[in-house]
Amino acid sequence: MCGIVGYIGKREVTPILVNGLKRLEYRGYDSAGIVVIDKKGTGHLAREVGKVAMLEKALAKSNWGTASIGIAHTRWATHGVPSERNAHPQSDCTSSFWVVHNGIVENYKDLKDALIAEGHKFISDTDTEVIAHLIEKFYHLADSKANGHRLVNAVRQTLRQIKGTYGIAVVSKLEPDKIIAARNSSPLILGIGTDENLVASDASAVISHTKNVIYLNDGEIAEVRGDGFRIETVGGDGEETKAKVEEIEWDMEKIEKGGHEHFMHKEIFEIPEVIENSMRGRLILEEGRAKLGGIEDVKEKLREVKRIIIAACGTANAAARVAEYMIEEYAGVPTEVDIASEFRYRKPVFTEHNLLLAISQSGETADTLAAIKEAKEKGVMTMGIVNVVGSSIARETGVGIYNHAGPEISVASTKAFISQLVLSALFTVFLGRQRDMSIVMGQRIGEALKELPGMVRRLLADEPHIIELAKKYKDTRGMLTLGRKYNAPIATEAAIKLKELCYLPVIDLPAGEMKHGTIALIAPDFPSLVIAPEDSVYEKTKSTIEQIKARGGPIIAITTEGNTELERFTKDIMYIPKTLEMLTPILATIPIYLFAYHIARLRGHDIDKPRNLAKSVTVE
Ligand code: G6P
Repeated sequence: MCGIVGYIGKREVTPILVNGLKRLEYRGYDSAGIVVIDKKGTGHLAREVGKVAMLEKALAKSNWGTASIGIAHTRWATHGVPSERNAHPQSDCTSSFWVVHNGIVENYKDLKDALIAEGHKFISDTDTEVIAHLIEKFYHLADSKANGHRLVNAVRQTLRQIKGTYGIAVVSKLEPDKIIAARNSSPLILGIGTDENLVASDASAVISHTKNVIYLNDGEIAEVRGDGFRIETVGGDGEETKAKVEEIEWDMEKIEKGGHEHFMHKEIFEIPEVIENSMRGRLILEEGRAKLGGIEDVKEKLREVKRIIIAACGTANAAARVAEYMIEEYAGVPTEVDIASEFRYRKPVFTEHNLLLAISQSGETADTLAAIKEAKEKGVMTMGIVNVVGSSIARETGVGIYNHAGPEISVASTKAFISQLVLSALFTVFLGRQRDMSIVMGQRIGEALKELPGMVRRLLADEPHIIELAKKYKDTRGMLTLGRKYNAPIATEAAIKLKELCYLPVIDLPAGEMKHGTIALIAPDFPSLVIAPEDSVYEKTKSTIEQIKARGGPIIAITTEGNTELERFTKDIMYIPKTLEMLTPILATIPIYLFAYHIARLRGHDIDKPRNLAKSVTVE
């Protein structure tokens, strides 16, 4: 993934594509690339790690003939580190077909093995490269009399082989008069101009050329020429579909944020999709097992692990604490969580068969990185749960699981946190099934995980109610956040968000600890946010609520749908659907994120860039 732009028409293509890429920069990326086909039918490729400006510099030195067709991409690595050879466009053995791709090809390994057995030569580590080789294969198998539609047919056949998600644009020097575009769960639009057309993952890349766009639907493939286009289905008989040209009315800023007011809001609303992406291809439901490619090679070593130490900072540390509960309860492996900055300076005692697990969105947090180095120094096995492919932590740990949450732009981490919880659950199933966990339990967790995206969508639809609550509490002087067991770390995550976004002094505690001191703060103008789903500790949490009520403290409660009991204590309740206890943190976090977001918005704060904060803390 990340950004796609393609152009076909009469104008010089390279500057149009480079400007399109610049428009897509806000999405975050690690490398960029472009291919154009000149008037003689020669393809010219350039790819660079780093900023689009680097690519532009390289292009300035190139001497390409005039070209009016090409595709370009900014890449956010999922398979293979950021490097020139892993950047897009990707090509086939003969450099005849070029592909840019957003999404994940789940079955790429099987497809790649089969293609290698057929004699195809691969250059990159990407899943995308299999698409190019499959197109090559099907193009040459096709009936050569197919009236100039061989390319679209070859791409269609290719997509029928692919499991996973994609938004793609393809060009070929064998049919240099068209771009083929297709989509499945990864956005793609056509920009319709006069004697020129564009393809892009995002309206921001086309808006300076045309306001008329077609949003491709899942399962559609388009053959785009300079003077027209035809959209067909990928499946079935490939029949033509009716396209609706729409006019974009948003301004640039709104387009970048997908119509949301802030990146944070956009990223919260991406959570259902992020959960799906984090699980994609990793859950083998029939066997009640998790398949995690990045740790397959050390499977046997992980079976021997007797103790896990998780090091992380900030929001990732809250995720680590949830993981601790999950792993101990379901996999039976003693687990402890350390704040990375503490871990690196105390004298940790390691024993045999220890594992140091680092959790980090950016993969660059200095303290977390130092914790890994310290553990490695002592001969301890290390592993990462990291969102940024090829980041320092990913490289230092060597093995691990990538989140596949996509780039997170808002400084406050939201979708990455939820993805960390999802991966913690999958890792728990992985470890558990190596030990005492039954297939039935593995399946139960798997099935519950699969229900989450739909449940989160329902929670997001409840935003108007949360806005009302935010209006009521926006001027509070502070807050207490409480939760027990799986949701004690969520009280911490709620506090982080209320502090960093709303600038509120917030104290978070495991609910049972409130009575030891903090209870003195309870007062009519000091509300408590209590996470109290109907779980194994519900009665205990309820008694904490009673204690707060008895002292006149206002309560905002989060509980399970159908539980009306808490209405005795407060009218301010956010309901979450019923799920497995270990997964309740995922659901409880959603209304909390919306609550903190809306308080910050009502207070007029700079939500995506809160004061004094940085997205990636690479200093001590
Ligand atoms: C910073 C960010 C937080 C993040 C923490 C850890 O403080 O503002 O959102 O949770 O670093 O970052 P990491 O990239 O290691 O998850």
